[in-house]
Amino acid sequence: MTVTPATHSADILIVDDMPDNIRFLSSLLIEQGYRVRKAINGKMALTAIQTIQPDLILLDINLPDMNGYEVCESLKQDEQTQSIPIIFLSALNEALDKVKAFQVGGVDYITKPFQLEEILVRVKHHLTLKMLQNQLQHQNQELQTTLGELRKTQAQLLQKQKMLSLGQLASGMAHEINNSVGFISSNLNPAKQYVQDLLSLIELYQQEYPHPSDTIQAFMEEINLDFLEEDVNQLIGSMQTGTERIQAVILALRIFSRLNESEIKSVDIHEGIKSVLVLLQSRLYPENKPPIRVVETYNELPSITCYASQINQVIFNLLNNAIDAIEAARDRLQAASETPTIWITTTWENPDLVTIKIQDNGIGIPETMQPRLFDPFFTTKAVGKGTGLSLLTSYQIIVEKHQGQLICVSAPNQGAEFKIEIPLKLTTT
Ligand SMILES: Nc1ncnc2c1ncn2[C@@H]1O[C@H](COP(=O)(O)OP(=O)(O)OP(=O)(O)O)[C@@H](O)[C@H]1O
Ligand SMILES: [Mg+2]
Repeated sequence: MTVTPATHSADILIVDDMPDNIRFLSSLLIEQGYRVRKAINGKMALTAIQTIQPDLILLDINLPDMNGYEVCESLKQDEQTQSIPIIFLSALNEALDKVKAFQVGGVDYITKPFQLEEILVRVKHHLTLKMLQNQLQHQNQELQTTLGELRKTQAQLLQKQKMLSLGQLASGMAHEINNSVGFISSNLNPAKQYVQDLLSLIELYQQEYPHPSDTIQAFMEEINLDFLEEDVNQLIGSMQTGTERIQAVILALRIFSRLNESEIKSVDIHEGIKSVLVLLQSRLYPENKPPIRVVETYNELPSITCYASQINQVIFNLLNNAIDAIEAARDRLQAASETPTIWITTTWENPDLVTIKIQDNGIGIPETMQPRLFDPFFTTKAVGKGTGLSLLTSYQIIVEKHQGQLICVSAPNQGAEFKIEIPLKLTTT
């Protein structure tokens, strides 16, 4: 791409208190096609610049009210005018402090008596520079915007991919485990019955033949028959509890991923929350650490029409963050003998929407960090621990997909509260 900035129609301001100089310069510049404005003192110059910004300023050093350096300094302090190139003018008999001219922000200087060619070359050169600079800045801005969009898209793609593979994995696993657990669980009852029958048979033998042979007697002692009878029932009982627990997790996984229900449907929010809590059991009851208390306050809610699996995803993300925040605050909580707690509260006060609040007494979020929470890749967690995408995704699901609200209230060391508002009925466009 070749760049040929249109410098010829540029707007130039001449600031000089000598009418002869102004006349000479302006006719010279007008002849070249420039638009020219004039000012005879510093104040006038500043006013003229505020009204319409020139593309370049020719600024005399000796002015009646303030000197050229002061005018220049004041322009450089203002964000609006700081990038206008300023060329200083000075008569030979005046003392031009060249270093100072550059220090206060001038780009060049021209000494009188003026040389036609020199003036034109310098003016043109600085106008070209300025325009190239403007173009660069503009392109830079465009690049920044594109970069921002790219990062957002990348974040969305990553999260989508993560969710998709997680969902597939979850449903695949749920299916496989469910089948296998099915065998175990359906065989447990008959197995229990068989064992019971065998034990009864032994008992019957004992009654009918109270004096068994020495070999039988020895074997009974070896296997500790009394203990075995007692223990085998407990054993089978805990196998049953185990399989029931696995089945509950699978059910939760299914509700959670709701893979075959990716469309909009009417759901019970509380059912979703409970399924998420089941999935988080191991994080809520960690080994070697006090468990995290979950205080659930559920008010009566109507069923809501939404993308159920996505709402579950948001609750999962927020609860995961709450647990992370509590883990990071363990020492403080212990020192203050506070119980690590997550409060989940649902309400239906406004007829058109339901509210879910998830609050924790973890590390909290400093106010300065709050505006960045929903930025893609914003994370305070160690590398490999957090991707910084969950809140962004949650925001997109609640605000963009469901026309709801996701608001964060927090202060450091006071925990955080995230409030979700979801309209009862999703209006699709
Ligand atoms: N309940 C909370 N308490 C304190 N800080 C929080 C809480 N929730 C979120 N944050 C802050 O917001 C940041 C972004 O959260 P987000 O869930 O988007 O990403 P992450 O948890 O770091 O990583 P991941 O994408 O894996 O969840 C977190 O790193 C954390 O600093
Ligand atoms: Mg997170």
